[in-house]
Amino acid sequence: MDSFVIKGGKTLKGQISVSGAKNATLPILAATMLADGAFRLTNVPYLNDIKMMVFILRYLGAKIDFYDNTIEIDTAGINSWEAPYEMVSKMRASINVLGPLLARFGEAKVSLPGGCAIGPRPVDLHLKAMAALGATVSVEHGYVLARGKHLKGAEITFEKVSVGATENVLCAAVLAKGTTLLHNCAKEPEVTSLVDFLIAMGADIQGCGTSDLVVTGVTKLHAVDYPMIPDRIEAGTFLIAGAITGSALTVTDCHPSHLTSLLEHLRQAGCTIDVEPDSMHIHPLHRILPVDVITRPYPEFPTDLQAQFMALMTLAQGTSRIEETIFPDRFMHVAELNRLDASIGMDKHIAIIDGVQQLSGAQVMATDLRASAALVLAGLAARGGTTISRIYHIDRGYDRIERKLQLVGADIRRIKG
Ligand code: UD1
Repeated sequence: MDSFVIKGGKTLKGQISVSGAKNATLPILAATMLADGAFRLTNVPYLNDIKMMVFILRYLGAKIDFYDNTIEIDTAGINSWEAPYEMVSKMRASINVLGPLLARFGEAKVSLPGGCAIGPRPVDLHLKAMAALGATVSVEHGYVLARGKHLKGAEITFEKVSVGATENVLCAAVLAKGTTLLHNCAKEPEVTSLVDFLIAMGADIQGCGTSDLVVTGVTKLHAVDYPMIPDRIEAGTFLIAGAITGSALTVTDCHPSHLTSLLEHLRQAGCTIDVEPDSMHIHPLHRILPVDVITRPYPEFPTDLQAQFMALMTLAQGTSRIEETIFPDRFMHVAELNRLDASIGMDKHIAIIDGVQQLSGAQVMATDLRASAALVLAGLAARGGTTISRIYHIDRGYDRIERKLQLVGADIRRIKG
């Protein structure tokens, strides 16, 4: 297993570019199964999670070339509706194949995704929505079995806002007979991007970007060429890298409009940030102010930036509180940040961070994707050397992060395991 060795305390300078969004690419890749034909997806990030979805789609019968951030996928040969445990257990987002398989074959057998380091992640909302469209859904021997040759439009109100469930039901509904009314949908840019992709394929969906979507089923969809949106979580991580190291940094190839809540919180922390339509420039920050955060569905503060913002708050001049409402147990990074001399206590699902003057380098372990990003940020700011083990987590969601950080002056090296 590879590790990162970081020598902290360097000021960063220059431009850092953002890759395509992992969480937009995964559902779009799954949705290519809704048509037979040759798709060309561009601005695809080179990540382990994407390789895993490619692997699953190849297993199901697709022909795929993945080169230079482009995926060419021919779905005509897809002939299996079964996604086995060995593949699905490695990545939770594999549940995204459920809706497309059900719509394509009238049948799907997908292994339950299983546990996750950030806490329990049920799929009940996905299953209830498929059942509402007329599928017979059961869970047997660790597999979701869904059958329904003739899915029918229905009115579905999600009890909770769920990105994955919204995406899955959209994919099942676009080819169902009649109209599906969806309420309390997730409005994350990745969902909006999937809706745009489905519309480009010929789907009829109204209400894009709102929590109420109206899907009128069509009989056939067609293959398209489509670019992936920039990764807002990667962009936000780089902005925080600028803030925590007191650097002037320009984050390019991004959509700042997807990061309004983070920008607001960073400004409250004292940052000066210039925003252009597709780039952001952060000015050197000399004094970090404490800011409270509550994670909530988009457009509010994203849970996927909670750990990184906490890394920044460890150096604030005062106490801040970070409450996690999406994944209440997502605090594995707290113990690791404390190993770097942070002072963070927990009160149920709220972290209380007493800012310290200085972090000190130490050996730490990456526990999940965004926790690893938080450790990289803390390591960049800490005095001395930090070694982060198990960085395969970060390779799931950040496209060659160490190379991008090296280009702006960070002293970070990958040690091959
Ligand atoms: C997606 C993102 C993930 C992000 C999360 C929240 C992808 C591949 N992953 O995950 O990075 O952290 O959104 O923004 O896009 N829930 C249920 N039942 C369900 C489904 C979800 O109770 O059937 C709950 C979850 O436990 C959680 C909340 O709903 O408390 C939101 O989860 P959800 O939006 O579904 O997350 P994912 O789609 O898995």
